[in-house]
Amino acid sequence: LLAATAAGHAQAYPTKPITMVVPFAAGGPTDIVARIVSEHMSRTLGQQIVVENVAGAGGTTGTTRTAQAAPDGYNIMMGHMGTHGAAPALYPNLKYDPTKDFETVGMAAGTPILIVARRDLPPKDLKEFMAYAKQQNDKLNEAHAGVGSVSHTTCVMLNVQLGIKPTAVPYKGTGPALNDLVSGQVDFMCDQIVNLVEQIKAGSIKAYAVATPERSPALPDVPTTKEAGMPEYQVSAWNAIFAPKGTPDAITAKLNDALVKALTDETTKKRLLDLGGVLPDEKGRTREALKTFVAAEVARWTPVLKQAGVTAN
Ligand code: MLT
Repeated sequence: LLAATAAGHAQAYPTKPITMVVPFAAGGPTDIVARIVSEHMSRTLGQQIVVENVAGAGGTTGTTRTAQAAPDGYNIMMGHMGTHGAAPALYPNLKYDPTKDFETVGMAAGTPILIVARRDLPPKDLKEFMAYAKQQNDKLNEAHAGVGSVSHTTCVMLNVQLGIKPTAVPYKGTGPALNDLVSGQVDFMCDQIVNLVEQIKAGSIKAYAVATPERSPALPDVPTTKEAGMPEYQVSAWNAIFAPKGTPDAITAKLNDALVKALTDETTKKRLLDLGGVLPDEKGRTREALKTFVAAEVARWTPVLKQAGVTAN
């Protein structure tokens, strides 16, 4: 009888609005991807997905909240390479395990990383920036979204490769960090493309390079790190939807179906592509693919960050 009731609930689902936690400030990359896909998913599901920004501790505050929420399909989140890949290596007392405490819904978008700077930072290209950064070292201010976030971990990689220790300025997300980069209060950051395209095109910040093998179609004038002189700096992030462990299979299947419909909708697709998002292919859109991918990401990031000697404290 219990099973029959649960199946009945899953069939009727959703009967009320769904909360999607974004574990960073509004206006940043996670929020942008969440709002674009959830808008179309809401239409498919016939219920509103309400984005709730729960920022703090590099995204781990909001992620913990989702891990501990009722597994009823009404609590989901937009996680990313930081919250579900890098964070375990940095927080010894993390209250969730990305590989065990969630059901996977699906990948929303891959997000290439760019090295960007305030518009009036002296170096005009990546080679000059490399020399300048070594010379300035801790006089240089680096904005990031908290320990374990994408901007933090990808700049950890950059700083290790350059042998520099800039002064870190933490924010609740790279949305507010970008505002300060535009107004010139911080010098540089490593950030996901979806947050940056508009400001780069407007000339309000400088882009030194994109850390992917190919240029992004959204920013054809920005060189790759390989072209610009730092071929070893290769890194991309991703954003994906998760539900608490124990969320019924029929519900995560419905959510995945709504996500796939969003990613194949021409308007939604265009919005993500125009911002430089990389859409998962058919195989990469399944719940299973995300589960396998998360385990691989945790395994990949743990040695990188341990070797870099970075901790949350
Ligand atoms: C990050 O660095 O992890 C992201 O940019 C966070 C955000 O969405 O602000």
